[in-house]
Amino acid sequence: MTVQFKLPDLPYDAGALEPHISRTTMETHHGKHHAAYIKNMNAMLAERADAPNSLEDVVRLAAREGQKKLFNNAAQSWNHAFFWQSLSPEAQSPSGDLKSAIEKSFGSLDAFTEEAKTKAVGHFASGWLWLVSDKNGAVRLTDLHDADTPITDVSLTPLLVCDLWEHAYYLDYKNERPRFVDAFLSKLANWRFADVQYRAARSGGGWSFPA
Ligand SMILES: [Fe+2]
Repeated sequence: MTVQFKLPDLPYDAGALEPHISRTTMETHHGKHHAAYIKNMNAMLAERADAPNSLEDVVRLAAREGQKKLFNNAAQSWNHAFFWQSLSPEAQSPSGDLKSAIEKSFGSLDAFTEEAKTKAVGHFASGWLWLVSDKNGAVRLTDLHDADTPITDVSLTPLLVCDLWEHAYYLDYKNERPRFVDAFLSKLANWRFADVQYRAARSGGGWSFPA
């Protein structure tokens, strides 16, 4: 039986993030871009009998084998599903152990926000800004290019991600990536989701792509 993955539904209405991200952007980003990555990946998986059942394992297998086209489409399928979870219609801020870990790594929440803006705005071309944790609970920011994803490193757990591809913001912000990044950090970031991931970082598990 060939493994095939479905485009996951958005965890909120496509218009729920307005005015920060428009319904049109969400419908295009999810219904066209994300859907295309899943479709392309499924077509490639249909060609091989040994495809793993989990998308995380497909991403890791493609990375190990150097199958760039499969990796790009599988990782983008995973990264986007994780990105939808990283957004919330309700503005939030970090709390509890995760807030403490951010303060320990960055000095303060303000310093974290400044570093996140600097990395996201300074990232050249397409990619992603990730907040990740190691198994000891130390957090850090890392910007990765194109489809790259921290799930190829099993010592890391992603907590939150911001999509830096132009398709994520161009319809709403044109070339003004800094305004989009500001909106992500101050209005959209789903810190409750990040907190669940942070607890999972130390106990194993964490969010996985729906099978
Ligand atoms: Fe995207």
